[in-house]
Amino acid sequence: MKALELNDVSVFYGAVRGVEGVSLYVDEGEIVALLGANGAGKSTVLKAVSGLIHPRHGTISFFGEPFAKLSAHRRVIGGLVHVPEGRRIFTTLTIGENLELGAYGTQRSRTERAQRLGEVLALFPLLEQHFERLAGTLSGGEQQVLAIARAMMSNPRVLMIDEPSLGLDPQKVDIVYDMLEEVAALGTTVLLVEQNVALALEIASRAYVLQQGSVVLSGRSASLAQDSRLSDAYLGKATHDHG
Ligand SMILES: Nc1ncnc2c1ncn2[C@@H]1O[C@H](COP(=O)(O)OP(=O)(O)OP(=O)(O)O)[C@@H](O)[C@H]1O
Ligand SMILES: [Mg+2]
Repeated sequence: MKALELNDVSVFYGAVRGVEGVSLYVDEGEIVALLGANGAGKSTVLKAVSGLIHPRHGTISFFGEPFAKLSAHRRVIGGLVHVPEGRRIFTTLTIGENLELGAYGTQRSRTERAQRLGEVLALFPLLEQHFERLAGTLSGGEQQVLAIARAMMSNPRVLMIDEPSLGLDPQKVDIVYDMLEEVAALGTTVLLVEQNVALALEIASRAYVLQQGSVVLSGRSASLAQDSRLSDAYLGKATHDHG
């Protein structure tokens, strides 16, 4: 079953092309990576899927159902979550409060929310230790873990995450990536945006490479990792600075 499918999707910001003619899919249970240099259109794909922007052309389907004009909120209720670039946790709220906001609007009863909180804390013991701490006092890596945990509060079928390794030292990156693998092992499908190609190919089963708004290369991670085309020509420099 395809959890997510984009067919010939084009997004424009006024006259500026975000992406054009993008087709891709993510099978249920898969981790798929979306790679590309700065400005290639990676975040645009995630925003179109989550409903933050509407494609000018093309269709996006979720478990076989077209999203069409479904609002971003309805998509969350339907089982899709998006952890955007830069994490966007609430730094002046506690970890517990951040997690509770992640369940907002998606679980009906207080009991259901409490149960889900228990499940998520079991998955992310680091957060349980610091439950009452203000999120702003966490390290960058810990904040990324919190952003993933908050997304998991809605018990999503599909998690989309934008550049989770950005700005983290290698040790913290390992922690975050272990979390993502665990999330996937428990059955959540993952669409992962990364500029760190080696890292993404380690956990993804397949990947798509975007260049200037279009898919220029795709395939299984094992073969892409050997592919000489997956080089500077498509991806720019491996370590990048965000403006
Ligand atoms: N709000 C916007 N208004 C106008 N143009 C935009 C907007 N957001 C993105 N773009 C343009 O759309 C293109 C794709 O941008 P996008 O943010 O999707 O790239 P990206 O692959 O996520 O890059 P990065 O790795 O730097 O995050 C770029 O040319 C960008 O300048
Ligand atoms: Mg981006």
